[in-house]
Amino acid sequence: MYNLKPEIFDFNTVKGISKKQLDEHYKLYTGYVTKLNEIWNTPYVPSNYTDNNPTYSKMRSIKLGETYSIDGVKLHNLYFENMTGGNNTPCGPIFNAIVNEFGSYATFISYLTSVGLSMRGWAILTIDSIDRKLHVTGSDSHDNGAIWQSFPLLIMDVYEHAYFMDFGTDRKKYIATFIENINWDVLNQRFEKYILQSQFMDMNKGRYCPYSLY
Ligand SMILES: [Fe+2]
Repeated sequence: MYNLKPEIFDFNTVKGISKKQLDEHYKLYTGYVTKLNEIWNTPYVPSNYTDNNPTYSKMRSIKLGETYSIDGVKLHNLYFENMTGGNNTPCGPIFNAIVNEFGSYATFISYLTSVGLSMRGWAILTIDSIDRKLHVTGSDSHDNGAIWQSFPLLIMDVYEHAYFMDFGTDRKKYIATFIENINWDVLNQRFEKYILQSQFMDMNKGRYCPYSLY
């Protein structure tokens, strides 16, 4: 029985975005958690999965809701985590990697901002498994444009629900405010986690499996 709970974040540490805006956003996030529990608690009985038409069916509805809610939960967990808690001075190995990859911090911010302005859902700093380099990817919704085997480091929500209450249509100002709230300790912890995991996967020649084989 799944009973996933929303994570708790300290919104008092966020500067320039109102508590009301953040609380309303958090409510949406808790809704994704609720729906994910509901979907994952759907029993494996034929009456739940034999209606499977690809245009419209019970199974199709469940599967579309599943990817949307899983990614909605994961992305918001990462987003709220990397914008709360202070530690807002760019620093550490991830900062060095960003400067190395994008040429300068200013260029990175300019690029991240532009990606954020161009998308309807998310802008994400990630390390991809193909080249193991930093990329800023974008998506129009939680599960549209998602990339598999790509490790997310910095998540920026650019849905209108993330800023419209405080910033109206001025998404650029919201993005600038979000950037000032980035928790660089969180980014460095994620970066370190990726490095350690990738070293482990290299040791096992990429055949990583979460289950014990013995
Ligand atoms: Fe959101």
